[in-house]
Amino acid sequence: MKPSTKAIRPVPEATRDTRSLTIPIYETTTFVFDSADEVRAYAEGTSDKFLYSRYGNPTVAAVEQKIAALEGTDEALLFSSGQAATTTALVALLEAGDEVVCSSAIYGGTLHLLEGVLAKFGVRSRFVTLEELSTPASLFSDATRLVWFESPNNPTLRCVEIGPLAVACRARGVLSAIDNTFATPINQQPILLGVDLVMHSATKYLNGHADITAGALAGSSALIERILATRKKLGTVLDPAAAYALGRGLKTLAVRMERHNANALAVAGWLAQDARAGTVYYPGLDTHPDHAIARRQMNGFGGMVCVDLGSYERAARFFDSLEVISRAASLGGVESLCSLPVLTSHWALSDEELAAAGVTPGMARLSVGLEDVDDLIADLDQALGKG
Ligand SMILES: Cc1ncc(COP(=O)(O)O)c(C=O)c1O
Repeated sequence: MKPSTKAIRPVPEATRDTRSLTIPIYETTTFVFDSADEVRAYAEGTSDKFLYSRYGNPTVAAVEQKIAALEGTDEALLFSSGQAATTTALVALLEAGDEVVCSSAIYGGTLHLLEGVLAKFGVRSRFVTLEELSTPASLFSDATRLVWFESPNNPTLRCVEIGPLAVACRARGVLSAIDNTFATPINQQPILLGVDLVMHSATKYLNGHADITAGALAGSSALIERILATRKKLGTVLDPAAAYALGRGLKTLAVRMERHNANALAVAGWLAQDARAGTVYYPGLDTHPDHAIARRQMNGFGGMVCVDLGSYERAARFFDSLEVISRAASLGGVESLCSLPVLTSHWALSDEELAAAGVTPGMARLSVGLEDVDDLIADLDQALGKG
């Protein structure tokens, strides 16, 4: 099946026997057994019944099956946030003394988790540049167990060449994990390129309606079993009602991404030809440094666009003048949003850290939504006039 069909069909196995067309919400903490033998079968792992919703729940399992199908993996797991997904993966896969090699162009929450939490438990992190990630032969130390990266990244949409990095990790016996939030499985399928684990902030495009916080991990059954054991211990599972909302959002993922891709390409192209806008970052533009990589490994370039207006003052005036596009953090929903990275995702970073992340005070980041693109461009036009 093609992705847009997989997003809708088949009705996932976990809830198929209810004959409900949509995934029902099982709002229950626990499940009733008929006998001690039935409980024993569950405990021995020979039954597919559910015991307790922190361990597993049919609504959650059904949506997990959808995400696994979309990512082309054996299995997937859902979590109460993207951060909960990352935390659970790191705790499951690493031990004291292990080293994580992490892209320095990474979501701030991942960086703080590695530096502020995992470090307390003896897991060391080494942050590397995109150039270092593109020469994987010299990337590993004897302690490296995991390489964690993002592509495209925030906010400059720089891309990592996924295939060679994943192959090098595998050859070395090191796990590779990608945060695929910006791309979605519609635009990029890292598992097919050899990556071991895919992570999502499902809060963003997978749900698509900015009304739940959720996270997802997808990978082989062997890897997912290890992470599931840790999810049970940490209690980081998603709530069934939020899983239902995520499952409903997923049905339109493919069509939403088509429109996000088209709108963002039009917005980026329009900004790039306007002398009032400075550098425009969008992997679909042939001026983007990673356009060739993006063309090779992506089916569409996504809904995120970043523009550098030259100074914080200009960016702030532009931001304050927007009338259709909302001033808000987050991304990936139907509504277009604008944020200033130095005030949100890259707040409180030193000048050196900002330079390493390629972030300037004049940058405005757009999450281009599904509105009519003419209305979005008209809004950008009038705001640039005041910027
Ligand atoms: C790329 C990326 N990864 C991970 C996260 C964390 O996800 P959540 O906010 O769902 O915990 C975010 C949130 O903004 C993100 O943008």
